[in-house]
Amino acid sequence: MKTGKMTIFEQTVARENEFQLATYKKMPVAAVRGRGAWIETSGGERYLDLYGGHAVAATGHCHPHVVEAIRAQAGELLFYSNLVYSEVRARAAEKLVSCAPVGITKAFFCNSGTEANENAMRLARMGTGRENIITFTGGFHGRTADAISATFLGKYRELGRPNVPGHMCAEFGSIASVAALADETVAAVMLEPIQSMAGVRQAQSEFYYMLRELCNERGMLLIYDEVQTGIGRTGEWFFAGSDRGACVVPDIITLAKALGSGVPVGACLTTEAVASYIKENDLGTTFGGGMLAMAAVNATLEAIERDGMLENARTLEEYLRESLKGVPQVARVRGAGLLLGLEFTDEIAAQVHQVLLGERIITGTSSDARVLRLLPPLCLQRAEVDLFVDALRRVLSVL
Ligand SMILES: Cc1ncc(COP(=O)(O)O)c(C=O)c1O
Repeated sequence: MKTGKMTIFEQTVARENEFQLATYKKMPVAAVRGRGAWIETSGGERYLDLYGGHAVAATGHCHPHVVEAIRAQAGELLFYSNLVYSEVRARAAEKLVSCAPVGITKAFFCNSGTEANENAMRLARMGTGRENIITFTGGFHGRTADAISATFLGKYRELGRPNVPGHMCAEFGSIASVAALADETVAAVMLEPIQSMAGVRQAQSEFYYMLRELCNERGMLLIYDEVQTGIGRTGEWFFAGSDRGACVVPDIITLAKALGSGVPVGACLTTEAVASYIKENDLGTTFGGGMLAMAAVNATLEAIERDGMLENARTLEEYLRESLKGVPQVARVRGAGLLLGLEFTDEIAAQVHQVLLGERIITGTSSDARVLRLLPPLCLQRAEVDLFVDALRRVLSVL
């Protein structure tokens, strides 16, 4: 490839396009550095990142405590599998369980959100001896075979054809539609308690409560996919057990994204009852629970705690909601904590996203053309909210 007169950005684009599969529509940005809610590009421009690299950078980019922990661990032992014990893994499991709602007592570590969901469904099938799984319209659970078959958002499920059998779809928010499917073949009901990609959709709190009751009555397990909502995103460690979700505690919680601040790691958390069905070799993964990832988990949880990020997420949610009052095209702000969907009066989210990018602010779209998603680091500051709201007002005034 001739790269003579090209900028570093142009060279990077050309090389990625030539040597990588074109599976993502990318922003015209080559990220080289990040601090807090900001990333810097190869051209030295700074972008305010209200998307957090797909909801991953909850502690902010390169939180010093996380970086230091990863550096230190890298110098000691990068990896050894679950065939040996590890103090750093023991600490991560204990800490994660201690952050979880009462009744959640065990962790299984893996590497991504989709893998966490695959293992959660397997746990449910093993635990109940049943095969079917109910998931919901608008839900997204990942792209591996079983998880994509459980995904009824848009066209994703079709991409996974032939789909894994045993998946049923209920209407999100409708307990009657779950009850109609919930027979003795159903192992579990799985949901994103707030459907992020569908446009930050949340059900009435009675829905979560009634779902728990129905699962108890009919011998089904309840799985919360908290890949996006977990680890402080909603201003609580988990949506599970929180007031927003009628204090409902599911049987299994799945996690990934924010859990390692960018080091790939996923987890299933579960109860003593579910754990009691599991024997040696029932679940497994080479990389799950590796030392580098576990160091990142410990440091992530510590950073969130030490810096008061849960409280900050709640405070800034209020501040954002307040600041957006009176912006004429914003019909509603959906979501919780720093998982927010700005619902516009028209289908302009993609356009707003694009123009904001020109103002060096990164936001997210969703499958709802009216909804712009914000998934910023939980260390976001008021001045950064002000910057966003000012830019949004400017953008909306000319659209
Ligand atoms: C709610 C939810 N579940 C599962 C996944 C899949 O996670 P991963 O991409 O880490 O496999 C995602 C990814 O966006 C998600 O948002």
